[in-house]
Amino acid sequence: MQALLNVVILAAGKGTRMVSDRPKVLHRLAGKPMLRHVLDAAQQTKPATTCVVYGYGGSAVPDAINDPAVIWVNQEQQLGTGHALQQALPHLDTNGITLVLYGDVPLTRNETLNEMIELARDGALVLLTVELSPPDGYGRIVRGADGAVLRIVEHKDASAEERKIREINTGIMAIPGGHLARWLGQLRNDNTQGEYYLTDVICMAVQDAVPVLTCHPRHEWEILGINSKAQLAQLERLYQAQYAQRLLEQGVTLADPARIDVRGELICGKDVALDVNCVFEGRVELGDDVSVGANCVLRNVSVATGTRIEPFSLIDEAQLGADNRIGPFARIRPGTTLGDKVHIGNFVEIKNSQVDAGSKINHLSYIGDSTVGKNVNIGAGTITCNYDGANKHRTVIEDGAFIGSDTQLVAPVTVGRGATIGAGSTVTRDAPPEELTLSRPKQMTVSGWKRPQKIKK
Ligand code: UD1
Ligand code: CA
Repeated sequence: MQALLNVVILAAGKGTRMVSDRPKVLHRLAGKPMLRHVLDAAQQTKPATTCVVYGYGGSAVPDAINDPAVIWVNQEQQLGTGHALQQALPHLDTNGITLVLYGDVPLTRNETLNEMIELARDGALVLLTVELSPPDGYGRIVRGADGAVLRIVEHKDASAEERKIREINTGIMAIPGGHLARWLGQLRNDNTQGEYYLTDVICMAVQDAVPVLTCHPRHEWEILGINSKAQLAQLERLYQAQYAQRLLEQGVTLADPARIDVRGELICGKDVALDVNCVFEGRVELGDDVSVGANCVLRNVSVATGTRIEPFSLIDEAQLGADNRIGPFARIRPGTTLGDKVHIGNFVEIKNSQVDAGSKINHLSYIGDSTVGKNVNIGAGTITCNYDGANKHRTVIEDGAFIGSDTQLVAPVTVGRGATIGAGSTVTRDAPPEELTLSRPKQMTVSGWKRPQKIKK
């Protein structure tokens, strides 16, 4: 039987250099807390147990992450990485492998983690290391004459000679089953920082003749930690560059791969084209031949084939049909479903409404809590008055209706199939099908009227 896998994520630190009241691991990278990235990578390795050691910020971290698969372990005082792992020990299957991750190192690929886990299954203690220049601040990997790892020495404890070593400890390690409890029990804090160093287990492994092996990430960004807003911004750009690269490889046309932000998941069909400065949040699905103009924001949206979204449109929690023309400057709000060949033009706001195939709302309108049928034409400046100050009401506009410009439809109200509403009307009662309905004071002319003249002083 394969040994079970424990994952322990160390996340108790405050992150002073973030200059923030929020615990560091809750700061967002690509729209989600950096700890969530680590948890997502961890969960792909299929652990039996996932522990997160938290501390600074108290329950803020478990509350924000709110994941029932996680065992939360409170480390009240941060006495070092070894002490942190000791807190998790009672929850771990000590015969299993233990993978140690850091809550502030969010971009490690799960392929890298799996490589480490495989070596640990064969009984080795596995360290993820890289060569850095300068290696300042990091623990150094000390090797013997034969190249075997002997121990890790922390920067602050290292001799001048040891500080020249460029191979550093990323902190990520996989510990084979059967040793952890004993090794952690032997940790002492007689070092420069007075901390219980997890890295001291390397020495113990060597003494116990447990092989210590190293793995190296394919990309340097996999091991980068976030300690400051500058590093957060840097990793955000690295993440976005990777995402853009993947989209290009899938055949998506990007006007500029450096000017797209995906904060979630962007799923694209064939021949999708995205202009600059678009932001995609949550889950966004774009069908074949969809194009998105510059400066659009799409959040939890699905868009069917052939739809064109013009610049400066904001679309939130909506489903768009095929061959729509949206924007420029359209705002589509949650609960909206558009059929095929719908046109939504500039300065039009649609909320919680269904608009059926072939209908057009092209200029300066508010359509809220409405059901709009097929082939309806809604003139410029139309407003559905959906709110009476206390309750929301629905407007129903049936197939083929024509709403003249500057109309107010006071809900609840129904405009019948094929009805026409004269421009400038305030419609408070249902408009019958196939008829012209209008409400408008009679036009009059005051003959002989003169404009006032400016009085000279
Ligand atoms: C540690 C390693 C060092 C490595 C470096 C990589 C030890 C002794 N040293 O250094 O070899 O090069 O990481 O960045 O392990 N944490 C807790 N509780 C604690 C202490 C730390 O949860 O009591 C967490 C922190 O929140 C952080 C991570 O562990 O996510 C690493 O701690 P940090 O203090 O940044 O690392 P160092 O001790 O400097
Ligand atoms: Ca430290």
